[in-house]
Parts: sequence; structure tokens; C-alpha cells
Amino acid sequence: MEVVPLAHALGVEIRGVDIAGVPSDAEIDEIRTAWHGAHVIVFRDVEWTPDQHLAFSKRFRDLDDHAATPHDRFDGYPELLEVTNIPKNGHPSQTRNAGRNWHSDYSYTNRPAAASMLYCTQKPPVGGDTMFCNMARAYDDLSEKMKGIVADLQSVYDFSLVSGIGKRDPKKIAELLKINPPIAHPCVREHDESGTKALYVSERTSHFEGMTRAESAPLINFLCAHATRPENVYRHRWRIGDLVCWDNRTTMHLALGDFDESQPRHMLRTTLRGELSGYVVPPAV
Ligand code: OGA
Ligand code: MN
Repeated sequence: MEVVPLAHALGVEIRGVDIAGVPSDAEIDEIRTAWHGAHVIVFRDVEWTPDQHLAFSKRFRDLDDHAATPHDRFDGYPELLEVTNIPKNGHPSQTRNAGRNWHSDYSYTNRPAAASMLYCTQKPPVGGDTMFCNMARAYDDLSEKMKGIVADLQSVYDFSLVSGIGKRDPKKIAELLKINPPIAHPCVREHDESGTKALYVSERTSHFEGMTRAESAPLINFLCAHATRPENVYRHRWRIGDLVCWDNRTTMHLALGDFDESQPRHMLRTTLRGELSGYVVPPAV
């Protein structure tokens, strides 16, 4: 197995392992170690079926059945999410503009995603890139004083801050807001496998619990700007057959709308189920 760095801050490409086959336990351990170190891992030229995607993902952890976003499931596969701009049954796809602000998957649920594995089946000729930032490094780079401040905070995640939901079907959005009320999670997230500490705040954080929106905004803005500095980012240019796996406990990501929307883009995602976390709180004031 060969592990090739893709950027200074995070991200490696892994070569020399047939993930569509049945990797050995030793290979899975090696992949997991590389993943914990680099936070984002990339496999190229993967040719597989949805069942092979599920089988590989399950080697790492139980999968989420996506009950928090039931409309986005891939037909017949509750453990696969479809992220695409291809219209469905004559209606615009609800996920055509998914991921367009910096976030960590399922932060607005009581099981924030441990990790995600996104597979590209169709892409526009240029663009449609995804960016990732290293939240463990962002935490490490804070002053000791600021580390003390964030250690005391609970980030409230509000589904209504998911970007672009104004363009989706209002009935479905009302349902999703009911399934996913505002929820507070520790602003410093400790990785349940590696023990790594990482900042856990995003552009979907409405406020810190016990503080007003106005009081929270300057600190949320600072932490997000600090985390997403270009030198803390890896930008992935997709190819068909890429499998990109990110650790949601130690990264945020952003889907760029930098492409011709008339061109098809189609991705399938598994979500490695996270630990139970958080408590429901009233909306921000
Ligand atoms: C996701 C997501 C990014 C993209 O699948 O969780 O944010 O570029 N997708 O499609
Ligand atoms: Mn996402």
C-alpha cells in the first residue's frame, strides 16, 4: 500500500489496495491508521456497485440509515445518500446545492457523523470541487487562553442554517426541521477512536448555548475563518471513480458551486454512524 500526501494540512491518496474486492483486516487497519493521521483519504479509479460501497464502508463502522434526511436516500438503499443535480421524476433534485457552506455532516442530529465516504459516478467537465479543512490543526493552533474559552462552550447546530434550503421543497424542509430541532454539542470534539481534539463549530452553528446570536457571531466567524484559511485546506478535484473519505470529527468540508449546473454531477455517500451526542435546546435569540 502506498500513501501519497495531497496537501500540507490534510489529505492523502491511498494506492495499491483493491477496495472493491475484500481487503484483508491488516489492510483495513493500515487504511484506518492513515485516515486518522491525514483526516481525508482518497482512492482513485474505483469501479464498484452500491453493495460493494456498503461492504467496504462497513469494515470501518456501523452505517447511518439517514433517518435525519430520508428524502435524500438512494432508491432501495437507506444507507446510501444520493448527492446530485440530476432532476428526479421531473422535479429538481433536493441535493443539487447540498454542502454549499462549511460544515461537518449530521452536526444537526444527535448522532453527528463519524465519517463519510463519497463516490463520484458523474461530474461536470470542470469544477464541482470539494474543499476540506483540518479542525484538529485549527484547534492546536489556538492560543492556550482561547483553548480554555472554547472548552467551555457548546455549539448549537440549527438545520435552518444548511445553505440553500430556501430553494428546496418547503414541505420537505418543514418535515426536516421537525426531525432535527436545534441541538448543542461540545465546541471541542474529542475523537472517539484516536482521542484527537478538534474544533467543532461551523457555518451551521447558530450560537453558543447560553449566549445570544449577536454575542456568539464574532467568535463563530473568527473560528470558521481561522479554520478555513487556505493553508489549512485541501481542495479535491473530482474524477469519475474517486472515493473520498473524510473524518467528520476532525474536518469540515464545502461543496463549491464552481461548475455549469446544466452538466450532470452525481455522487453516492455512505455515512459512518457517530456516537450519541448533544441535547436539544431552544432556537437562538
Ligand atoms: C456531502 C457533501 C459535498 C459535495 O456529501 O456531505 O457535503 O461536493 N458533499 O458534493
Ligand atoms: Mn456534507
